Amino acid sequence: NLEVSGSVKAKCPSNIALIKYWGKKDIQIPMNPSLSFTLNESYTETTLAYSPKTTDDYSVKVYLDGELKESFAPKIIQFFERIAENIGFLKNFHFELHTHNTFPHSSGIASSASGLGALSLCLVDLEEKLGAEFLEGEKTQKASYLARLGSGSACRSIYPGITVWGETDRVVGSSDLFAIPYPYQIHENFRDYQDTILLIDEGQKEVSSTVGHNLMNNHPYAERRFSSAEENLGTLIPILESGDLHEFGKLVELEALTLHAMMMTSSPYFILMKPNTLKAIEEIWKFRKETNLPLYFTLDAGANIHMLYPSTIKTEVQNLIENSLKSLCHAGKYIQDFVKIS
Ligand code: PMV
Repeated sequence: NLEVSGSVKAKCPSNIALIKYWGKKDIQIPMNPSLSFTLNESYTETTLAYSPKTTDDYSVKVYLDGELKESFAPKIIQFFERIAENIGFLKNFHFELHTHNTFPHSSGIASSASGLGALSLCLVDLEEKLGAEFLEGEKTQKASYLARLGSGSACRSIYPGITVWGETDRVVGSSDLFAIPYPYQIHENFRDYQDTILLIDEGQKEVSSTVGHNLMNNHPYAERRFSSAEENLGTLIPILESGDLHEFGKLVELEALTLHAMMMTSSPYFILMKPNTLKAIEEIWKFRKETNLPLYFTLDAGANIHMLYPSTIKTEVQNLIENSLKSLCHAGKYIQDFVKIS
């Protein structure tokens, strides 16, 4: 029924990749498989209100925390154009998107994954409500498929815990078109694994991830990188089962630094880390040398540090934050998050 007004609501968290997606082809097809932790406290909540219209165009208004954001609409319309062949009713309605992030705006935490995840969940709900089943398959898988077309890594945010995106022989059921929940054994050492995000830099990124992905075309190390991601995923699977947190952390840091090495060797090259990113890394390494506790870091496409560690060493890490790391953060800000793995 395309004649009614109403609204649908959804919530979707952000995620942090351990095996990084960097480089794509065609329409958001990743060049290598990636694996991530879905967060809990950092999420987007979206209400999608719809009312029927007759004009042959896309009509969207986006509100962030009640404030109309004119600049957001073109991005949503671009997303609608991409998914038009999957969702047929987009031109039948005027949409108002009311969205709220639990993490500070422009904190350097990408809201694209959680935002596009939440919007995709809304659209799948709406499809069901209208009885207009354009897409085949299970609901979360459809949402993941749509989210991928908005922002690649967003497709992994649809599921809690650990998720995998990108077809690989190493993970049964994996696909380039949508993410899947991690299907193998996870050791209890990873239960409620912590992610403390140090907000090193709050500004807009100088190079967008779209530009970064494209620079992997004709990158001299691209092929080697794509196979190293595969290999690292192959190494990570038995580590997730055995629960060896030092082996885990070493691999995760290697992935993060490899991602940034790709940026530094692109043409043109660029650096997204800031001086305080390196200072924080030195502090983490020093802490590890002194305590032998499994505190490791990862980075996304930006200057912020994600510190990953088991909840058993929360007190020690909190002391490190208070004593040294906090002073490296923009206005002393950091976000405490975790991944729900039972
Ligand atoms: O989903 P995009 O296009 O914003 O790219 C995300 C890229 C990284 O965050 C650097 C890695 C990843 O796998 O999430």
